[in-house]
Parts: sequence; structure tokens; C-alpha cells
Amino acid sequence: MDINTIGSTILDESNSPRVLKKTLDAFVVACGEITDIRPDRGFNAWSEDSLLDNGVAINPQAAAYCAMDYDRSVAFIRGVYAAISTLKMRFPGAPLEILYAGCGPFATLLLPILGLLLPGDLRFYLLDFHQRSLDSVTRLLDQFGFCGDAIRTVRADACSYKHNGKLHLIISEAMQKSLEQEPQFAMTANLAPQLFPAGVFIPQRIDVSMCLADLNYEKELVGQAEKIDSDAVAKSAKRYPLKTVFTLLPEEAFDQMQFALISADGLRVELEPVIVVFPERDDIAEFDVAMFTHIVIFGRYRLRDYESQITLPLKCHELSPPVGGARYRVSYQLGGYPMFQFERLESA
Ligand SMILES: C[S@@+](CC[C@H](N)C(=O)[O-])C[C@H]1O[C@@H](n2cnc3c(N)ncnc32)[C@H](O)[C@@H]1O
Repeated sequence: MDINTIGSTILDESNSPRVLKKTLDAFVVACGEITDIRPDRGFNAWSEDSLLDNGVAINPQAAAYCAMDYDRSVAFIRGVYAAISTLKMRFPGAPLEILYAGCGPFATLLLPILGLLLPGDLRFYLLDFHQRSLDSVTRLLDQFGFCGDAIRTVRADACSYKHNGKLHLIISEAMQKSLEQEPQFAMTANLAPQLFPAGVFIPQRIDVSMCLADLNYEKELVGQAEKIDSDAVAKSAKRYPLKTVFTLLPEEAFDQMQFALISADGLRVELEPVIVVFPERDDIAEFDVAMFTHIVIFGRYRLRDYESQITLPLKCHELSPPVGGARYRVSYQLGGYPMFQFERLESA
């Protein structure tokens, strides 16, 4: 399968999950053969992760493995294609400047559709912290025949990178479920202000909400489904939303970063906290407390619960089993390992 066929198959919305999986597998195999980077979940390659000030930059093998989070890759690739089409109309005649931050070794969210976009008045900057990933991307671009000035690689920390000029589109996916571990927030806070006012940041929105849920039961429901219908799971499951604990909007991230607080013990820098109160229910101890992540990639391209690794629920072990009436201060902690922190408060 050549790279343009891979791209057009992924974009064709009539294709079944099975065809899409086969296509992404073909992409991964082709990239692996060319670069000798083999996707690896990451557990054996942790030593090659880079522990940066604002989160972990996962190693190239683990970043390659993300391609096989199939629904994620498909939704992002379609979202990127749709965003570029929209921006071409929004900025007619202007060469579009596009930054892909955290491209990893296979530039998965862009490479399959690059041939369908070029030639065009587009300039791509593929950025990653890992030189090995950039070497891999350079080799792939060369092998797939995408040469020339339109595409450059950049080695930098995306949390401090300053682009020379304004950008029309920024693509970035450096996150785990519940925005834990990787620096999605700090990358967004640094990069989003570098967009033109009508530019687009992908993803456009990420919501993390806390719910009471029976995760074992939900796991069973998801296990039985051929194609995950996140709404159906939420409806048939006994799930009680408690609160949206964080919304990441690119246009607000810089200000959120500026207003970050130092925690009372002086040990953490955190975003403005929210207070969550557990309901008084007789059956509350039967529930898990969990965080759910929803991602708006671009327009109608979205990822909801269970549709990808990055939108799986995260059980809050320290809050389970929940106690009726308990109050918690919930804050998103920044730094080398971003994550949510919970602090039990005296009941009101
Ligand atoms: C989750 S992987 C995603 C790879 C690929 N974009 C995809 O979606 O399949 C995140 C990538 O971001 C890179 N990354 C993480 N933090 C970074 C930072 N602060 N600066 C530059 N790159 C970073 C990692 O090295 C890794 O390649």
C-alpha cells in the first residue's frame, strides 16, 4: 500500500474499523522497515524517556506505538485534514505555516495525508525533543518522496519553543488519559499564543471530569461491544457526573499558566483548584471515583470515553470507595509529572 493510498483510506469515512486498523498497521510496518524503529508500548524502553521540566517526553518507540491507538490516529488525521481545508479557505492566497509539535518518529498525524496536501502553499515544521525521532522523520520524508523546502524538522522543547513568525495551525498530542504525565498543557500554553488570531490549535478542547462510576461494569459493556459507542456506555452504565475539574482551551492556557499557584506546602505549582462534593447516597460506597477525558480534535472529530487510550477513564484510587458528603480540593499540578491532586477538606 503506498503512502497516498494509506492516507485516502484513512480519510474515507465509509471504511470499517477493520480496514482502518489494517491500513494503520501497514503504515506502521512500512515506517518500521524504513527507520528500524519498532513500536513498543514503552514499558521496556522507559530509560529513553526524557524527563523534562513540564512533563515526560516519551521515547521514540513508545511514540511510534501511539499510531496503533487506532481510533485516536484516525480521528486526529481526519481532524488535521479538515483543519487544513478550513484554513485554506480562511486565509486564501496566504502560505499556511503549520507546526506539528511532538511529531514522534512517524509523524503519524500528518505523514499519511502529506501527499494529498502537497504541492500546496503549505510550510510544515515537524518538531520533537528527540533527535532520533527527527532523524526517523527525515528518513521517512525522503523515502516517501516528500523533499524540498516545504518541510523542516526542528529539535526543541515545545514548552519553550518560539517560532519565527505566527502560525496558522498547530498540531500537538502529547498526553495520556486525564492529561497525566506528558506536557500537553504546558505545550499548549506556550504555543497557542503564537497562532494568528484565526488560526487553529489541534486539539481544540480537552475536558476532564470527575464521575462516580462502576468501572468493572463499564469494562464489561465495552468488552462486549464491537464498536465502542461512548454515549451508549454512559447511558447504560450507572454513572454520575460530579464536576468538570479542568477544561483546556488553547486560547486560555497561557493565562491559566500565568495564574498558576504555589501550593500551601510550597511543594507544587498548580492551576486554580475546584471543589468537588460527593453526594449523600446510600449506595455511594458501591462506586468508583474516576476521571473521564473528552477531546475535541477539530469540529466534529472528537474522542470520547473508551474510544482511545488517551480517553480511558482513570480510577482515583485515593478517593475510592467514596464517602457521602466528603469534600475535595482538586487541582491540576504542573511540573515534571503533571497530574491531578486531591486534598480532603473539612466538611462544611
Ligand atoms: C504521545 S507522543 C505522540 C507521537 C505522534 N505525534 C502521534 O500522535 O502518534 C508525544 C511526542 O511528543 C514529544 N514531546 C513530548 N514532550 C515534548 C516537548 N516538551 N518538546 C518536544 N517534544 C515533546 C515526544 O518526544 C513524543 O514524540
